Amino acid sequence: MSLYNLKGRDLLWLADYTSEEIRAIIQTGLEMKRRYYSGERVIEVLKGRSIAMIFEKPSTRTRVSFDVAATQLGAHPLYLGWNELQLGRGETIADTARVLSRYVDAIVARVKRHQTLEELAKHADVPVINGLSDLVHPVQALGDYMTILEKKGRLEGVKLAFIGDGGDNVLHSLLIAGAKLGVNITVATPSKYKPHPRVMEAALEAARETGAEIKIIEDPREAVRGADVVYTDVWVSMGQEGEAEERLRIFRPYQVNRELMELAGGAIFMHCLPAMRGQEVTDEVMDGPWSVVWDQAENRLHVQKAVLALLTP
Ligand code: CP
Ligand code: NVA
Repeated sequence: MSLYNLKGRDLLWLADYTSEEIRAIIQTGLEMKRRYYSGERVIEVLKGRSIAMIFEKPSTRTRVSFDVAATQLGAHPLYLGWNELQLGRGETIADTARVLSRYVDAIVARVKRHQTLEELAKHADVPVINGLSDLVHPVQALGDYMTILEKKGRLEGVKLAFIGDGGDNVLHSLLIAGAKLGVNITVATPSKYKPHPRVMEAALEAARETGAEIKIIEDPREAVRGADVVYTDVWVSMGQEGEAEERLRIFRPYQVNRELMELAGGAIFMHCLPAMRGQEVTDEVMDGPWSVVWDQAENRLHVQKAVLALLTP
């Protein structure tokens, strides 16, 4: 399916992957989608394998799309809520990783703290795939760049404007992967909410090689000028509920609405979802001609089939 042997690799964040490997995953995702729509609903490359899916936080898309992805590849998915595992009663992450490695062929995990994933991966003998942490959301970015490639026909030189929370986990993955793919990204965010230094370091290092431009500014109107893609995410991410009041106030000027989309001209609108309609985005934009959010959500399924097929031994 691909020249790149990724079998057995963890996917904690995309800084560990080369541009070529990221492109190969996206191309395999497109191929999975093409085959699905030509009637090949099941491609049994993982027949007889089991995929554990540990969730420490709620999820609609990631949970369902990984479950269906595993099923369409002939594998058996197991949804494991954190508190239904002995983890919830204090069994260590290391011991859980050791035991699950004796049963399953890959572990997908959505966790509160990124260090939990690193600990899981350290002690697991099977690939650990990040289904979102407080730091990054790599499978989201893979699906998103697959969507941008479908809609715009290219990635290199595409201009993406991210409007809102500069410290957002989805933005972090868009920055790292985008820099590797030659995407120019402008982030408009209040000065207090800059991307994580670890993410900026990885993105800027990649950008030096590809020539991608990364700009962090404050003015959303300036960011969207000439943009091909306008992207936003919630102002209050899971785990930040205690800061909700302050965040909702500070981010108010960063709403993506008709006026901003019209200023952008011909840009598409993207959102990883779930959207808080009326906060970071208006109904008019979510349901308007700019929006590609449903195709974007669907592509999670196809790109995650690529990830599971390529990484699971
Ligand atoms: N975009 C995304 O990961 O959505 P869920 O939180 O529903 O999985
Ligand atoms: N930034 C959001 C993404 C949800 C998919 C969160 O972490 O809640």
